[in-house]
Amino acid sequence: MLKKILITGASGQLGNSVLNQLNGKFELLATDINTHFNKLNIPYAILDITDIKQIQSTLSNFDPDVIINLAAFTDVDACELNPDKAYFLNAKSVGMLLDNFDGQFIQISTDYVFDGYNGPYSEDDIANPLSVYGKTKLAAEKVLQNSNKDWCILRTNVLFDYYDSTEASFIKWVIDSLKENKSIKVVDDQWNNPTWTQSLAEIIELVINKNVIGLYNYGGADYLNRFEFAQIVANIFNLDKTLISPISTESLNQVAPRPLKGGLKTEKIEQEFDIQSIDLKTSLSLIKSRLIE
Ligand SMILES: NC(=O)c1ccc[n+]([C@@H]2O[C@H](COP(=O)([O-])OP(=O)(O)OC[C@H]3O[C@@H](n4cnc5c(N)ncnc54)[C@H](OP(=O)(O)O)[C@@H]3O)[C@@H](O)[C@H]2O)c1
Repeated sequence: MLKKILITGASGQLGNSVLNQLNGKFELLATDINTHFNKLNIPYAILDITDIKQIQSTLSNFDPDVIINLAAFTDVDACELNPDKAYFLNAKSVGMLLDNFDGQFIQISTDYVFDGYNGPYSEDDIANPLSVYGKTKLAAEKVLQNSNKDWCILRTNVLFDYYDSTEASFIKWVIDSLKENKSIKVVDDQWNNPTWTQSLAEIIELVINKNVIGLYNYGGADYLNRFEFAQIVANIFNLDKTLISPISTESLNQVAPRPLKGGLKTEKIEQEFDIQSIDLKTSLSLIKSRLIE
């Protein structure tokens, strides 16, 4: 019998890749707060993870073996302005899901749990989030770690892919802007190892199949700043990289502070799972060939 997997926030950026990766291999229920077009014809239900009644009825109807929790309040500045909503959606609802579930719970966390003074970070480094978003994501980790449930926390950073349906995508913004000959400014003081959602979805499949429990980092193989990332995107997609100019994070005057030297070390997952993180140029070339098909 196929394992039953419930995915929350399935219409988001990572959700697209997770649905593509798991489709046909498990019995899936894709859920999200709104109905969205689902090209794969995977069974779909509305589930607002802050609504206890919806949680209880969805979990008792579907009775999943695994929950992959992708639902989150991911707008970092909006979280800063709405800390109660951010805490409720990013952390408290994790406890509500756990209280009604006994299988494997897979949570996606972030390098924003660190202050970004000296990244990249390993799983053993001490978290010290700067922003409300980071604090609420760390609070969710603690909810899981303090429970006696089967949890797996995958910390990741700067997710990317190109899907028409996804608005909040860095590479989509870069590609679409340059194609339209628009100049863009990109910060050159935020450092990470950007992560292709498709490769993270493959890791999630491994976590399910191996029934992995614990805290793991996963990120791409290249550690670079966002300006350099944009330039590589332009190179791979044959776009005019002179349209991209560097700016500092400070000059953006964003509401929420950003960790500058962020990013995640991936040695633990690479050794234990016997995998290698994929490099940026290969990931972008694969995305490009998919878009041309
Ligand atoms: N994006 C990154 O660079 C990054 C980096 C590290 C970690 N992460 C983590 O990875 C996970 C997936 O991120 P993502 O980039 O795929 O996020 P995303 O594109 O913002 O997707 C989140 C999804 O959750 C849905 N949602 C919002 N409120 C909900 C609620 N109350 N109940 C159920 N669903 C709700 C959203 O629906 P609407 O769009 O309709 O609101 C959206 O479809 C998140 O946990 C995030 O914290 C992301």
